[in-house]
Amino acid sequence: MNNLLILGAGSDVGVACAHCFAENGFNLILASRNVEELQKEATDIQIRHGVNAQSVFFDALDYKSHSSFYQSLPMIPDAVISVFGVLGDQTLAEKDFEHARNIIDSNFTGNVSILGTIANEMEKLKKGTIICVSSVAGERGRKSNYFYGASKAALTAFLSGLRARMFESQVHVMTVIPGFIQTKMIEGIKTPAPLTAKPEDVAKAIFKGFKKKKNSIYVLPSWRFIMLIIKMIPEFIFKKLNL
Ligand SMILES: NC(=O)c1ccc[n+]([C@@H]2O[C@H](COP(=O)([O-])OP(=O)(O)OC[C@H]3O[C@@H](n4cnc5c(N)ncnc54)[C@H](OP(=O)(O)O)[C@@H]3O)[C@@H](O)[C@H]2O)c1
Repeated sequence: MNNLLILGAGSDVGVACAHCFAENGFNLILASRNVEELQKEATDIQIRHGVNAQSVFFDALDYKSHSSFYQSLPMIPDAVISVFGVLGDQTLAEKDFEHARNIIDSNFTGNVSILGTIANEMEKLKKGTIICVSSVAGERGRKSNYFYGASKAALTAFLSGLRARMFESQVHVMTVIPGFIQTKMIEGIKTPAPLTAKPEDVAKAIFKGFKKKKNSIYVLPSWRFIMLIIKMIPEFIFKKLNL
């Protein structure tokens, strides 16, 4: 049986991943800030899927705690899925650097710290899988959410480099690049139904990509094509678009 650590496990995508991997026999460590809620989820998963599921406290912004967090885990993870992140408020971030920094740190610096720690441990063992959820927003900076987009662009680049570094140690790194997902993160934002995935779709795509050792996945295939077009738009046109 394999052990999976989910960072940001209370997120809608995290919960869906927990159920999907538990269904496939994985023991789980659910990590996030709201341990009370996570423990309820862990108990439900144990009953439903007959696997070992435990909850632990994790704060992506408490960098100093990351090494001891990893060392005190109840089981050594064979795989990790990092799903934590914040969308933030673009308009506020334009005026308030602290808000901008929180977006960058929650999506990027937090992952650099914890995934760097985990990668170093997996490198010693010469095995393991690191999966991290980035976003199509990182493929090109748009005026409506470039703080979030920039943090995800940096994350995607970090994961690409980490994947290349880890290759020789047989540690696999998979980048997940979803478009819209129907979760509380985008609650109240209207998105086109054919381009909006459910958290369960994301979990299934992650599991499939994990089994096939994919380097990166887009979840809904249409997003790969859309982003190709968006990246091809010349800058002199792109800067005039209300995107
Ligand atoms: N929804 C979309 O349209 C969409 C599209 C592309 C990519 N994504 C990405 O998908 C991932 C999952 O997001 P979601 O849509 O499932 O959103 P969500 O339900 O809002 O989940 C975000 C999670 O991140 C956690 N988090 C934030 N800051 C944290 C910190 N400092 N330490 C620990 N956990 C922290 C939150 O935990 P608390 O409950 O403790 O606040 C929350 O559970 C994110 O990386 C997001 O950027 C989402």
